[in-house]
Amino acid sequence: MGVVTPEEPPPLPASIIVTDVTQQFSMLPALAGVNLAVQPGEFVCLVGPSGCGKTSLLRILAGLARPTRGTAQLAGRVATVFQGQSLFPWLTAIDNVAYGLQLAGMTTARRREAALAQLRRVGLERFARAYPHTLSGGMQQRVNIARALAISPDVLLMDEPFGSLDEQTRIRMQDQLVALWQGSGTTVLFVTHSVDEAVAMGDRVCVMSARPGRIILDLSIDLPRPRTRYADRESLAFRAAATRIWETLEQGLRTED
Ligand SMILES: Nc1ncnc2c1ncn2[C@@H]1O[C@H](COP(=O)(O)OP(=O)(O)OP(=O)(O)O)[C@@H](O)[C@H]1O
Ligand SMILES: [Mg+2]
Repeated sequence: MGVVTPEEPPPLPASIIVTDVTQQFSMLPALAGVNLAVQPGEFVCLVGPSGCGKTSLLRILAGLARPTRGTAQLAGRVATVFQGQSLFPWLTAIDNVAYGLQLAGMTTARRREAALAQLRRVGLERFARAYPHTLSGGMQQRVNIARALAISPDVLLMDEPFGSLDEQTRIRMQDQLVALWQGSGTTVLFVTHSVDEAVAMGDRVCVMSARPGRIILDLSIDLPRPRTRYADRESLAFRAAATRIWETLEQGLRTED
C-alpha cells in the first residue's frame, strides 16, 4: 500500500510586515513611519491614544486604504472585525456568519453547520435565527467575531472588537478569543484602548504615540497563560507590564503638538 503524504503548505516568511508606513490626510500626517513585523501565530496588541492612526493602519493592512509612503504586507487569508462594524440587517445571525463561507465554495448545508459551530463558540447558538436588530450591541459584535473566525483566517485584524461589551462579557470574550486562537496558528493584530486587555491577551503589546502615530514601545508579555481572568490581573508582573505601558502612553501624549 502506498503512503500518501499531504503536501506541506509553504512556510510564511512573516505574517504581517509594515515598513515605514506614513499616512497623510490633507497634508496632516496621521501615521509617521510605522514599522512592525508580526510572526505567524503571534498575538500582538496595539494601543495608543485616540486619533493616533490605529484604525488607519488596520485599513491599510486590510487593503482598504493606501499609505502615502511605505508598504504593508500580509501573508494568507485575512479576516477583519472593525470598529462599529455592522451586520447585514436582512440576514439572520447564522446567515451573517455563513455569508463569508459562500466564497469558500461549501454547500449550503455545510456552511450553515460551520456557521452554527462558530456561533456556539461565541455563546450565541440559541440566537442563530435572530435578526441583528433583535440582538444587543454586544451580541451583534460576537456575531461579527464568529463571522471573522468562520473563514479560518491566517491573519485576523481586530479594531476594538470588545469596546462596546460590558465588563463581564468582555472578559469572557477575551478568554474565549485566546482559547480559539491558541493552537490555531492564526496571527492576530488586536487594537484596544484597554491596557489591561492588551496585557491579558498579547504575546506583545505595541504602544503608539499621539498623532502622528508611530510605535514607541514594543513590549513582550512573558507571563504564563491563561491570564485573562480578573484575578490574573492582580499579579505583580501583570501590573508591572501595565504600568510600563501606561507610562509610555503618557510620554507619547506629551510629544503631541
Ligand atoms: N479618511 C480620512 N480623511 C481625513 N482624515 C482622516 C481619515 N481617516 C482618519 N483620519 C484622521 O486620521 C487620524 C487617525 O485616525 P484613526 O481613525 O486611524 O485613529 P485611531 O487611532 O483609530 O483613533 P480611535 O482610537 O479614536 O479609534 C485622526 O486624526 C483622523 O481624524
Ligand atoms: Mg480607531
